[in-house]
Amino acid sequence: MAREERNIKLKIDNVKKVYNTRNGEMIALNGINLDIMENEFICVVGPSGCGKSTLLNIIAGLSETSSGKIYCDGHEVTGTGTERGVVFQQYALFPWLTVKKNVEFGLNLKGIKGKEASKLAMKYINMVDLADFSNHYPKELSGGMKQRVAIARAYAVNPSVLLMDEPFGALDAQTRTQLQTELLETWQKEKKTCFFITHDVDEAIILAQKVIIMSARPGRIKEIVDINIPYPRNQETKMSKDFLDLKNHIWGQVYQEYLEVRK
Ligand SMILES: Nc1ncnc2c1ncn2[C@@H]1O[C@H](COP(=O)(O)OP(=O)(O)O)[C@@H](O)[C@H]1O
Ligand SMILES: [Mg+2]
Repeated sequence: MAREERNIKLKIDNVKKVYNTRNGEMIALNGINLDIMENEFICVVGPSGCGKSTLLNIIAGLSETSSGKIYCDGHEVTGTGTERGVVFQQYALFPWLTVKKNVEFGLNLKGIKGKEASKLAMKYINMVDLADFSNHYPKELSGGMKQRVAIARAYAVNPSVLLMDEPFGALDAQTRTQLQTELLETWQKEKKTCFFITHDVDEAIILAQKVIIMSARPGRIKEIVDINIPYPRNQETKMSKDFLDLKNHIWGQVYQEYLEVRK
C-alpha cells in the first residue's frame, strides 16, 4: 500500500487548561494530544462542559493554555491568525454593518480592500445564497441567514483551517442539512482542514473522517473513531448499517460521559 504523504496541519501537544473559579482551580482540559492532518475533517463530541469550546478557543489563539502547546503548520500558535477561520454557534456579526460589509471586514483585516474585497465578498455571499440580501443588516435576517453570513465571512478570507463550534446547532433541520452539504462541498473543493464541534452524533458521522469523543472532568480524549464511510454522504447514508452501528457506539460512549457528569 502506498504511504500517505500528508502533513500534520495542527498539532495539539499535551494541552492542559485550568480555570480559576470561585470554588478554586478547575481543570477543564488535561493531557490533550492530537495530530490533525492536512485536509482532515475532525468532529468533536462530548457532554456539555467537557471542554470542547475551550479546546477550540485555544486552537484559534483566542485563549491560552495553562501548559502545552498548539502548532499550526509547524509554528507555535500564540494568537489568532488568518489561516485559522472561526465560526461560532452565535453568529457574532457586527449589527451596524450590512451583510456585505460584514463579509468584507475580515478581508480588509487581511489587507484586501476596495473592488477586490467587494468582488470576493459577493462570491461567498452568492455561495451561501444571500446575494439578494447583501445590503441588509443582520437584524433583518433569520437565524439561518445570519449563520450563513458568518460562514461566508469565515470562508472569504480563505483560511486553510476551519474551526467551527456547533455552528449549525441553533438552526432548523433543513437549513442544517443544507449547510452540512455545502460545508462538505467546500471542504472537498478547497481542501481545508476542519475541526468541528457538535453535540449531534448524526452530524458528526455525516461530516467527519474521525470523531473525537471527549470525556468529562477533566476533559480528555476518550476515544477516536474512524468513520470509514465514503463521501459524498447524504440522507440515505443515515439509513446504512455502518452509519447506525457507528451512531450506536458513539452515542453510547457520549451518554456514559454524560452520566459521569451527573453523578
Ligand atoms: N472563562 C471561564 N472561566 C471559568 N470556567 C470556565 C470558563 N470557560 C469555561 N469554563 C468551564 O470550563 C468547562 C468547559 O467549558 P467549555 O469548554 O465551554 O465546555 P463545552 O464547550 O464542552 O460545553 C466548563 O465546566 C465551564 O464551566
Ligand atoms: Mg461549547
